[in-house]
Amino acid sequence: MTKKKIIEKILELKKKRKAIILAHNYQPPEIQDIADLRGDSLELSLKASKTDAEVIVFCGVFFMAETAKIVSPNKKVILPVIDVPCEMADMITPEDVITLKNKYPNAPIVTYVNSKAEIKALSDLCCTSANAVKVVGTLKEKTIIMLPDMNLARYTQRFYTDKKIIYFDGFCPFHHILLPEEVIKTKEKYPSAVFIAHPECRPEVIDLAEYVASTSGMIKLAKQLPYKEFIIGTEVGLLYPLKKENPDKIFYHPSPEKMVCPSMKKISLEHVFNALENLEFEINLPEETIKKAYNAVKKMLIL
Ligand code: 13P
Ligand code: SF4
Repeated sequence: MTKKKIIEKILELKKKRKAIILAHNYQPPEIQDIADLRGDSLELSLKASKTDAEVIVFCGVFFMAETAKIVSPNKKVILPVIDVPCEMADMITPEDVITLKNKYPNAPIVTYVNSKAEIKALSDLCCTSANAVKVVGTLKEKTIIMLPDMNLARYTQRFYTDKKIIYFDGFCPFHHILLPEEVIKTKEKYPSAVFIAHPECRPEVIDLAEYVASTSGMIKLAKQLPYKEFIIGTEVGLLYPLKKENPDKIFYHPSPEKMVCPSMKKISLEHVFNALENLEFEINLPEETIKKAYNAVKKMLIL
């Protein structure tokens, strides 16, 4: 089948199935182009909770599809490729959470959505990279546990001198790998460019950033700021929507070979076609997990 034919078939099947296609900002360009909504984790979770579609085809990684199922348990949530783990989400186990809970029994647990449903189910509240600072600000407690990303936790800590954030030592290998030397080199090469970092980057990299934002936050900043050139400190897939939405601006990447999340690159148009035709691979979760995780996700979505 030609690319044009596959796209036609996808659109036909989407109608027939009363489906919606959601795609994360890091997805391959052809997937972003056919999606009904392309966005960051927060935007996609909100859309999944509000849509009246019967089927949600989620083009992203496993935790994103699980989150869609948690907020829309009565809908069919389909991942076009099943083997799409988030390496950070896989770093923490329920036992790790229970150990921290026992050590700090009065500290609420704020869990990054980049985590498995079973971890969300043990948490008080969820957050994304777009709202972590705001979420922590709603809590009256002075000691807070943040999981599983130590970099997002340490970034959030910068905003609260009156709170102590206890963090787990998880991280995203494709953000943590960016080194300050690489950013400094790119800044030297492009002295007019403004550096925007994702909060999953290590603190020494955040120190060099003029702005820190989620993936969609970066797209908005590039649009709103008067500058013409930007250095982008996140997974390399973001360059596609950045350039598409800001054709008059120039984007540089400090480490385009290393900052590639393999799970985000696996879904093709053929997979989306198969997902709609055969309704596979469906995400199902135990009812009890959905119920507990829903509380934590919902509290974030209504903020
Ligand atoms: P955003 O929510 O900023 O899109 O981040 C998701 C993610 O996986 C970053 O690695
Ligand atoms: Fe997970 Fe990192 Fe991939 Fe984002 S880029 S999905 S945090 S492994």
